[in-house]
Parts: sequence; structure tokens; C-alpha cells
Amino acid sequence: MKNKTIFAIPGSLRSGSSNHHILKFIGTLLPPDVNYFIYDRLAVIPPFDPGNDHEHVDENVAEFRSFIKNADVVIFCTPEYAFGVPGQLKNALDWTVSSGSFVEKPTALITASLGGEACHAAMQLILGAINATLIPEATLLVKFVRSKVGADGEITDEETKSEVIKSVNEIINKLGTLSEQ
Ligand SMILES: Cc1cc2nc3c(=O)[nH]c(=O)nc-3n(C[C@H](O)[C@H](O)[C@H](O)COP(=O)(O)O)c2cc1C
Repeated sequence: MKNKTIFAIPGSLRSGSSNHHILKFIGTLLPPDVNYFIYDRLAVIPPFDPGNDHEHVDENVAEFRSFIKNADVVIFCTPEYAFGVPGQLKNALDWTVSSGSFVEKPTALITASLGGEACHAAMQLILGAINATLIPEATLLVKFVRSKVGADGEITDEETKSEVIKSVNEIINKLGTLSEQ
């Protein structure tokens, strides 16, 4: 049976990002037969232009779309900026509306921020608009994230750690149901 693939998209470009650390921790929890890939190229996705959405598609956009299309599950882990979705993440997602890359794609959403409610809600609307299939049990809002993830990347808050582990278990369950189909 083909190995499963999880494509993880961090919403922060910051070096030492708590969201990156959470995604790295998730990688340590996955079975060895799961291919796990953290995307680190949001910064090279050009500004969305509906005029270049179908023909002359930028190679980085095409690559981003194909990573999503080929993944069995996509995980987002993102902070909130100015009560919204970080611009670089929203921009990349705009490129996936007409391509249909997310249609019925099992998707987990972690919003890890100071507060994050507005981004968490907006991301769920966006995922609905692009027809992703949210895995509700794997969806998590982590508040005050900077006090819960240490500078070395360790999740120091035990409750957050167990919530992330629970989300990952739900994702693994989802991969199992995909294998049965
Ligand atoms: C420009 C800017 C705007 C921010 N706005 C918000 C906000 O509206 N809501 C919030 O919860 N956190 C906000 N934050 C704080 C981020 O949630 C916090 O810096 C978080 O740790 C960033 O995630 P990272 O550690 O993965 O980079 C903002 C941070 C920056 C730099």
C-alpha cells in the first residue's frame, strides 16, 4: 500500500516561529510510514493575480498546488496578524480557489497565536470556500502560544502538548480511514 503523505503549512515566516515548532513536534508523533513535509516557501508565492490563475501560472504556485493535490492530509498551523489570516498564507490560499486543489482534502487547522479567534474563524470560512474537508476533531486554537513554546522549540505547556497529541491521533485515524477506501 502506498505511504500516506501529510503536507504541513506554517502561516508564520518568522525564524524561531512557535507555529513551526508545533509542526516540527507533530512530525515526531507520526508513524514512520507517513511522509511528512513542512512547507517553507510561502514567501516565494507571488501576489495573487486572477489574470494569471490558469495560463502562465508561476512555477512556485504550480508547485504549491501540486503539493496540496498529492497530499492525503493538509495541516495548517498559523498565527493571527491584525485580527486576520497572515497575508502570505491568505495570498497562497487565493491561488487555490480556482485550481480546486483543496476539494475534499482532509485538512486540520491549528491556530497558535496570542489570541487567534478571528484568524481561526476566518480560516474555517476560507477552507469552506475552497471545499476542503475540515477534520473537526483535529482543529485546535492555542492561545498565548509564545508562553507555551520554549525558545528551543519544546512545548512547555502540558495541556497544549496533550491537545496537539490528540489532534495528531485524530489525523492518524483519518489516514487509517483513507487506507480503507
Ligand atoms: C504584526 C503583528 C500583528 C499581530 N497581531 C496579532 C493579532 O491580531 N492577534 C493575535 O492573536 N496575535 C497577534 N500577533 C502576535 C502573534 O500571534 C505572535 O507573535 C505569534 O507568536 C506569532 O506566531 P509565530 O511564533 O509562529 O511567529 C501579532 C504579531 C505581529 C508581529
